[in-house]
Amino acid sequence: MKNCFYLLILFVFTMVSCNSNKTEAVEENSKCEQQCSEQKNQVVECIMSRRSIRAYKSEQIKDEELQTILECGINAPSARNSQPWEVRVIRDKEAIDNLNKEVIADMIEKRPEAKERFADEDASVFFHAPTLLVVAYDTTQYWGQSDCGMLVQNILLAAESMNIGSCAVGCCRDYINSPKAADFVNSLNLPENYVVYLTVTLGYKDENPDAKPRDDKKVAYME
Ligand SMILES: Cc1cc2nc3c(=O)[nH]c(=O)nc-3n(C[C@H](O)[C@H](O)[C@H](O)COP(=O)(O)O)c2cc1C
Repeated sequence: MKNCFYLLILFVFTMVSCNSNKTEAVEENSKCEQQCSEQKNQVVECIMSRRSIRAYKSEQIKDEELQTILECGINAPSARNSQPWEVRVIRDKEAIDNLNKEVIADMIEKRPEAKERFADEDASVFFHAPTLLVVAYDTTQYWGQSDCGMLVQNILLAAESMNIGSCAVGCCRDYINSPKAADFVNSLNLPENYVVYLTVTLGYKDENPDAKPRDDKKVAYME
């Protein structure tokens, strides 16, 4: 009889302890689910809040910030992990200004109507951003340009996640890939077969533009 009593006590104790472990596990799970969904929302928020920034503060972004942005860039997916990209970082104001002047002169030469757009002496296709990235792709790789697009998008989103402004700037590409820009391109020290794909401006934001409209009819469900 006494033994039965002890067995009953042991049974009750085990059940209570099991239940309390279960409650802890459930609580832990729901905490994790909450954290995961918050994390997911942060990514969505970052994507939805990113805008092309065309006005920057002159203060340079921090080395650690730039490093993180570049690290995120090269962690983009690429076909067969071929990583057919090269990224060059230009932080010298004079170098960016010189390139800007050459790009504008070339645009005006090709399309005289552009003269009006760049009438202001202070005009800059790089918006006076303190950092300019030049992204080049391997022309021998079938997915080279797509892969670089992924790298650039990672860069733009990583920048946004740190409230750093960015803008993909492609209007300079024709000039950069023309013989006129040979000196500039040589200075980038790119491997053979690499051609400039896109440039990206980076810096602290000096504007907060609204989102441009998106056409949701571009998506269709094939049901
Ligand atoms: C490949 C590419 C090239 C671009 N080139 C330029 C450019 O030369 N100058 C510019 O001001 N914006 C440029 N943009 C930025 C687009 O104008 C911008 O992404 C678009 O208007 C949507 O606005 P949002 O980025 O603020 O959402 C470029 C964007 C991409 C993806």
